[in-house]
Amino acid sequence: MKKLPLLVLTSLFLACKPGQPTVTPTPPVSTTESDVTLKGTAPFPMGASVDPGLLANKSAYRDRVLKEHNSITAENAMKWGWLHPSEKVFDFKDADGIVTFAQQNKMRVHGHTLLWHNGPTWISNFYGDSLAWENLMKTHIETVAGHFKGKVASWDVVNEAFRDNGTLRNGFDTDNSIWAAKLGPDYIARAFRYAAAADPNAVLFYNDYGQEGNPAKTAAIVSLVNDFKKRGIPIHGIGLQMHISLSTNIAGVETALKELTATGLKIHLSELDVNMSNFQKNPALRYSDALAQQQREKYRQVVSAYKKLVPAAQQFGITNWNVGDGDSWIRQLIQPNDWPLPFDEGYARKPAWFGMIDGLKE
Ligand code: G3I
Repeated sequence: MKKLPLLVLTSLFLACKPGQPTVTPTPPVSTTESDVTLKGTAPFPMGASVDPGLLANKSAYRDRVLKEHNSITAENAMKWGWLHPSEKVFDFKDADGIVTFAQQNKMRVHGHTLLWHNGPTWISNFYGDSLAWENLMKTHIETVAGHFKGKVASWDVVNEAFRDNGTLRNGFDTDNSIWAAKLGPDYIARAFRYAAAADPNAVLFYNDYGQEGNPAKTAAIVSLVNDFKKRGIPIHGIGLQMHISLSTNIAGVETALKELTATGLKIHLSELDVNMSNFQKNPALRYSDALAQQQREKYRQVVSAYKKLVPAAQQFGITNWNVGDGDSWIRQLIQPNDWPLPFDEGYARKPAWFGMIDGLKE
C-alpha cells in the first residue's frame, strides 16, 4: 500500500477526532459555476447584509458579495450600539468603511436602522424628562441621517415597533419599546419627520418581521401607513424582513405582499433567510439533500411571489441577511445547526441560490 504523507495522516486523524463541532458543512453543489448571478437575473436590486470585518478580511466573502449583489445593508454597523456607543460619542468608522466599499463598487447602500427598541444599555439608563428623550432621538436621527446624506439611499427609519398581535410595543422590558414608553405612540411619525428633514432624498422605510404569518401585524402596518399619508408624514416604503423557515406557509407571504403592496409604497424583502430548523433548537439536525431541496423550493416561491405580486415601480429589491451559512444570525443567536442562506460556509452556491434564480426567471 502506498504510504500516506504525515501531513495527510494528521489531517485524517484530526478529522476523525471525537468532539469536533457538530455542524456539518454544506456540500458544494459544483466546483465550476456559471456566469448567471442574482443581480444579473433580477429586474430589481439584489442585496446582502454585510459585516465590515468579513468584508475587510475574507476575500471569498467579498468576492461573493461583489459577484451577486448590487445593494448592501450593514447587518449591525449602522445600529445605535455601533454608531452611538455613548450619549456624546458617535463612531462612524465601520459604517463609513461599508459605504466606501459600496461607492467603489457602485452598489446601493440601504441603512439599517435609525430607531429600534433593541439598543445599547446606556439608552435604558438615560435620565431625562420627555424633552430630553425627544432630543436624544432627534439628535441621533439627524446626526446619522445627516452624516450619510447622499451616500445612503434609504433607511429603515423605525424597526419592529409592533408586536405580532398588532399592538404597539410600549414598555420598559427587553421585548418592549422604551421609545413608545418615553415619547408616546406618535414617536414613529416624529422619527420619520426627523429623518426626512436630515436627508430629504432618502427613501424612508418602516421595517418589521412576521407580517407573513400575522394578519394583525400587517393590518397595523397598513393602518400606520394610511395614517401617515393622511397627515403628510413622509414614508416611502415597507420592509418585510422575511426571516422564514421551511414550514412558512407561502399563502401567508402572498397575502401580506398583496396587502402591503396595496398601500402603493415601495416593498423591500429586507432580511431574507430560510432556516431549516423552523426556529427550534435541534442539535440533532443534519444538512441533507432533502432539506436543501425544500429550502430551494421555499426560496423560489418567495422570490417568485415578490416578482409577480409587487408591481415593478414598487420593487425596491430583495436583500439576504448576510451571505454564507457560517455568517448567519440564526447560527449565532438561535442554534448552530442550521443552513439558512443561499451560499455555504465557503461561499459556494447552494440549491437555495438556484431556487432564487428560478424565482427570478419566472
Ligand atoms: O461584536 C460583539 C463581540 O465583540 C462579542 O464578543 C460578541 C459576544 O456576544 O458579541 C458581538 O456582538 C454581537 C453582534 O451581533 C455581532 O456579532 C451581539 O452580541 C449580537 O447581539 C448581535 O446580534 C445581531 C442582532 O441583530 C442584534 O443587533 C445580529 O448579528 C443581527 O443579525 C441581528 O439582526 C436583526 C436585525 O437587525 C433586525 N431584524 C432581525 C435580525 C435578526 O435578529
